[in-house]
Amino acid sequence: MSELQVAIDLIQKGDVVGMPTETVYGLAGSIYSEAAIRKIFALKERPFFDPLIVHVAQLEDVKLVAREFPPVAEFLAKTFWPGPLTLILPKKDELNPMITSGLDQVGVRMPNHPLALELIKNTAPLAAPSANKFKKTSPSEAEHVFNEFGENLFVLDGGKCQVGIESTVIGFQEKKVLIYRPGMIDLAKLAMWVKSYGYTVEYAQSPVAPGQLEHHYMPKVPLYILGAGEEIDPVFNQPKELKLSNNPNLAARELYAMMRELCEEGADALYIYRTPLHDGHEWRGIWDRLTKASTRK
Ligand code: TXA
Ligand code: MG
Repeated sequence: MSELQVAIDLIQKGDVVGMPTETVYGLAGSIYSEAAIRKIFALKERPFFDPLIVHVAQLEDVKLVAREFPPVAEFLAKTFWPGPLTLILPKKDELNPMITSGLDQVGVRMPNHPLALELIKNTAPLAAPSANKFKKTSPSEAEHVFNEFGENLFVLDGGKCQVGIESTVIGFQEKKVLIYRPGMIDLAKLAMWVKSYGYTVEYAQSPVAPGQLEHHYMPKVPLYILGAGEEIDPVFNQPKELKLSNNPNLAARELYAMMRELCEEGADALYIYRTPLHDGHEWRGIWDRLTKASTRK
């Protein structure tokens, strides 16, 4: 039996599987199985107040979970899907409220990975958070998921994630697109596409869901963000520097694997220099993750 078929059978039985996507691996279960949804929260040790993203394989399936699909949202879906963009839309009453943590809105995206799309087409829309324990670093390779959850979880191996950080999460308010979680589809790109609809794009100020809370994506050892000329505290014996590519797409792709590798090599602290080369909207998602992963004084 193919690996894909094993994953399909597990999902159909109401179980959960590790699912590759282009951003990070997800911990996926059918939106119609309450047992699967409960298992996702339990495995992740995630509090029930942090909502899950629903993954669809075709545009029509948005209607299964959202009661409205405003024209500007549909236009963005047609432009960027399959791809790393999550749309926050008004939720359908029938959708299990555990998925949205009781919020009246649901996050939806179509992942750009052939195995994920096949899996969803053969089962149902899948609720999937990133496949890591709550607040920890997200997995960008199948092995990261094995290491976090062990033998008890079947992981569909789809290789290394090509984007490397989680999707951009956006919502809509009057004539504004609000970015709740920045990602590789950045403010400048979104602004260009929504202009013809009379929309502007802004970073949202306050968290709408705990995924935007202060601490998240944390590696096993403390991570420090340093300015030019700053040195890491001499209390550490083996601090290691996280050196990012100057190309934001490559930097995002390597980020989480690099954080894990340096820890495995025995680092007792990580540090990264913030340079002007890494500024601009296209770096915003990367700095959002690094800031939330970092230890601050
Ligand atoms: O790239 C991704 O988005 C990955 C892959 C697996 O698709 N998924 C992911 O899921 O990052 P997760 O659960 O780690 O992050 C989802 C975040 C939540 O923490 C929350 O911030 C936001 O998306 N979110 C989801 N549903 C929401 C809702 N109904 N309202 C507001 N924010 C929501
Ligand atoms: Mg996550």
